[in-house]
Amino acid sequence: MSRKVEITKVQESRIGEVDFANIPFGRVFSDHMFVAEYQNGAWENFRIVPFGHFTMHPASMALHYGQAIFEGMKASKGADGQPLLFRPEMHAQRINRSAERLMMPAFPEDMFVEALHALIDLDAAWIPPQEGSALYLRPYMFATDEFIGVRPSESYKFIIFTGPVGPYYAKPVRLKVEQHYVRAVPGGTGEAKAAGNYAGSLLPAYKAQQEGFDQVVWMGGPDMKEIQEVGTMNIFFVIDGKVITPITDGAILRGITRDSFLKILPEKGIPVEERKITIDEVVAAYQAGTLQEVFGAGTAAVVSHVAEIAYGDLMIKLPPVADRKIGAMLKDYIDGLRSGRVADTHNWIIPVNQEALV
Ligand code: COI
Repeated sequence: MSRKVEITKVQESRIGEVDFANIPFGRVFSDHMFVAEYQNGAWENFRIVPFGHFTMHPASMALHYGQAIFEGMKASKGADGQPLLFRPEMHAQRINRSAERLMMPAFPEDMFVEALHALIDLDAAWIPPQEGSALYLRPYMFATDEFIGVRPSESYKFIIFTGPVGPYYAKPVRLKVEQHYVRAVPGGTGEAKAAGNYAGSLLPAYKAQQEGFDQVVWMGGPDMKEIQEVGTMNIFFVIDGKVITPITDGAILRGITRDSFLKILPEKGIPVEERKITIDEVVAAYQAGTLQEVFGAGTAAVVSHVAEIAYGDLMIKLPPVADRKIGAMLKDYIDGLRSGRVADTHNWIIPVNQEALV
């Protein structure tokens, strides 16, 4: 496998078109992207090129049988302007766990990380200056065999593009406990960051949005009482001073923000449990007055406070955001790590190496 990376830079940057004070999530794309192809059993053709369209064959297998996976990551800038990555190796490992579940080839983890360094170094000017905003990084892989028989593809494309983003949710979210549709069951593809998992979530989310909610809370277990996650993030409950998040059982995405919170909380002296949690327990805590906070956690969402959760006819109303000390502490910690304001005691923050691929 040749590890040479060709770099073709844009002739003229589009950055002048961007209003960094007002960035919508997911609509603005930086100047360059990293691309590689898998064929004949090996990844090859590593290159950084101007961001732009590419052609696809109508029979490309990803379009038919859904071999498509992705990651969501963020790059930020420290106080000195140094571009920073957050736990890139965790994302490199997770995309390969997703790949394994969908019978796709692993992408070399060192190349995944090196490509990020080179791409971010090239497009560092696209990292928004204000804390809480970031350069969102979207690595993804999909099947490209031109064939419509059902089998794993033998060829794939891997791309990383980036774009500046503001917060995913601008205000606390209203959630609906989904009692009809399911996202995933243990043994399915729920733990993989598979494009199809998100496709399946769209109709239930649309129906919930028609009723005035932002997203659904996915449920599982034999009687649909076990809480799994929210459509766009993992979920955390604070009951009587203790933080609880559903244990990953194969149906729940192993969030990297979730993992970070599970490490930060005990260090702050806050008890945290990773275990099954049922909607009945949440309702009982609400009725007893001990449900203090609910928040979502994810790369895009960071910490998104939950305002209300509808469970059938019951509307669980959470305390005012001003009283959410634990969610606020976690958000401040992650935002602070990303801006260099909070000391990185875990080696999660990786300075972008300007020498990568040079
Ligand atoms: C992320 O948090 O980065 C994700 O991939 C979730 C997606 C809904 C934006």
